[in-house]
Amino acid sequence: MAISFFWTCSPKLSYDVKSFLFDGVPNPYKVEVTVIQDSIKQLQELNAANALRTTVARNDFNIHTPYQERKCESCHTRDNMGKTLLPMPELCNQCHENFNEKYTNVHGPITTGNCTECHNPHQSKLKKLLKFEGQELCLNCHNLTQVTENKVHKDIKETNCTECHNPHGSSKKFNLEKGSCYKCHENFETKFPILHGPVSVDNCSQCHDSHTSSSDKLLLTTGQKLCYNCHNPKEIEAQKYHQTIKGESCTKCHNPHGGTTYSFLLIK
Ligand code: HEC
Ligand code: HEC
Ligand code: HEC
Ligand code: HEC
Ligand code: HEC
Ligand code: HEC
Ligand code: HEC
Ligand code: HEC
Ligand code: HEC
Repeated sequence: MAISFFWTCSPKLSYDVKSFLFDGVPNPYKVEVTVIQDSIKQLQELNAANALRTTVARNDFNIHTPYQERKCESCHTRDNMGKTLLPMPELCNQCHENFNEKYTNVHGPITTGNCTECHNPHQSKLKKLLKFEGQELCLNCHNLTQVTENKVHKDIKETNCTECHNPHGSSKKFNLEKGSCYKCHENFETKFPILHGPVSVDNCSQCHDSHTSSSDKLLLTTGQKLCYNCHNPKEIEAQKYHQTIKGESCTKCHNPHGGTTYSFLLIK
């Protein structure tokens, strides 16, 4: 519509010529000019959209469902495809679960809504609409030297970072996935028929500090204090089998992780 208006409106042409020759001629058609610019922009966007449509046909791409179903307007306004309806992550949270609510420990770029640092919102040759493969996805922001400074990473080689870390968040420190400690350490779940409460729910960090700590066995505290963070001293001391323990460490008799008996006794 606006395009044909451009050709039929001769004062507009005259203004173009004048302003080309003499700068500073007032523009009597200010409104029309913006309309024309808008429609040119719309055309460019339509072209861009058409270009995108041709790539949609390629079957070596994984295509985001709403994009494939042409539900462009669930993310863009009809008159401006270049802009998004909402900022991220709200845009994505219209259909996906809110990671900020789901996890107690949320990964930096999720908090700031940088979903498109890792995902292409339309399509990708990689699974899960990812933009990069393997460690590269993470090393765009994380410095490899700094990562390998932590002895925990020394031998990971080409292992995908997401083998141990959830890219969005987790209920654990460092966004660790459940069971990730067992990738390098003995698996207590298979070793012990009976697991200690916090071990059975993979809560290692209730007793252990990070690998950069210099404390023995990376323990948060030592002796009875470690156990009394959760167990009631009065109840423990009341038991007849505990009458003789005094200040002795609980781990003298109990395995802290689990065992074959109800009380994970080290001595039978
Ligand atoms: C799931 C949400 C979503 C859907 C559905 C979607 N887009 Fe987008 N689109 C985005 C986001 C987010 C960006 C910005 C990309 C960025 O930040 O890098 C974008 C960018 C664009 C751009 C700007 C150029 C570019 O590629 O960066 C165009 C044009 C576009 N989309 C067209 C479309 C069309 C046409 C459709 C429907 C076939 C569509 N989009 C469907 C989220 C979506
Ligand atoms: C209009 C609804 C809608 C919006 C908005 C939306 N998605 Fe999706 N998305 C879907 C559907 C439907 C699927 C496919 C079903 C599924 O796997 O849950 C999907 C799947 C995905 C997948 C998995 C793809 C795969 O190959 O398994 C990713 C990653 C994803 N979306 C990211 C995003 C991001 C990032 C945004 C925001 C830029 C977003 N989505 C916005 C509806 C949406
Ligand atoms: C640091 C990179 C990164 C960022 C940032 C990121 N994702 Fe992901 N996302 C991934 C990876 C990696 C996967 C694949 C996980 C897998 O295969 O187990 C994934 C998978 C998904 C899936 C598929 C479902 C699933 O859990 O496998 C959805 C949906 C999704 N992301 C949405 C989002 C949304 C929404 C945002 C922004 C709030 C976002 N992502 C930001 C890396 C990221
Ligand atoms: C877009 C940039 C970006 C990308 C890509 C990225 N991260 Fe991060 N990451 C951050 C930011 C920002 C922080 C928060 C740093 C801080 O709090 O000091 C962070 C923190 C972390 C933390 C520490 C979390 C904590 O609780 O202390 C881990 C672990 C992590 N990222 C792993 C990954 C992994 C694995 C990937 C790839 C799947 C990845 N990151 C990709 C930006 C990124
Ligand atoms: C990528 C491999 C890796 C992962 C995953 C890993 N660790 Fe470690 N862990 C190590 C290395 C390497 C050491 C150092 C051994 C040394 O200093 O000789 C270590 C040491 C320890 C120690 C001290 C052991 C001792 O005998 O002094 C504890 C405790 C520990 N890790 C607990 C954990 C917990 C809890 C997790 C999960 C949050 C975990 N580790 C995940 C590699 C790993
Ligand atoms: C209730 C506290 C507690 C919890 C929870 C806990 N640990 Fe421990 N862990 C200890 C104590 C105490 C030691 C030291 C034992 C010793 O010195 O004999 C230890 C030692 C270790 C060691 C050194 C080797 C060994 O077996 O003595 C590793 C590895 C370890 N823990 C890993 C883990 C992992 C992985 C988890 C989570 C699945 C976990 N721990 C949960 C208290 C705990
Ligand atoms: C085999 C499991 C495993 C893999 C693979 C792994 N990590 Fe970790 N990562 C851990 C564990 C366990 C911790 C907790 C370290 C601690 O206790 O100090 C951690 C901690 C971190 C931290 C926060 C602490 C720090 O030292 O900065 C960042 C950031 C991080 N990892 C990034 C990465 C990146 C990036 C990759 C891929 C290149 C990666 N990780 C691969 C297990 C792993
Ligand atoms: C993070 C909290 C926490 C810490 C720290 C902790 N425990 Fe426990 N412990 C529990 C929970 C939870 C149970 C399971 C209680 C249940 O199932 O009724 C449990 C159970 C036990 C049991 C088995 C008896 C029972 O009631 O099920 C023994 C023995 C035990 N703990 C010893 C220890 C020792 C020794 C330490 C110190 C090395 C310790 N605990 C540290 C939380 C903890
Ligand atoms: C001298 C060895 C010894 C020491 C030291 C010891 N215990 Fe025990 N503990 C026992 C015995 C024996 C039982 C009873 C086992 C059974 O009947 O299965 C027991 C049972 C338990 C139980 C399960 C029953 C109950 O009372 O709830 C818990 C929990 C427990 N101990 C915690 C602790 C804590 C915490 C410490 C350190 C403050 C500790 N123990 C120190 C020997 C010891």
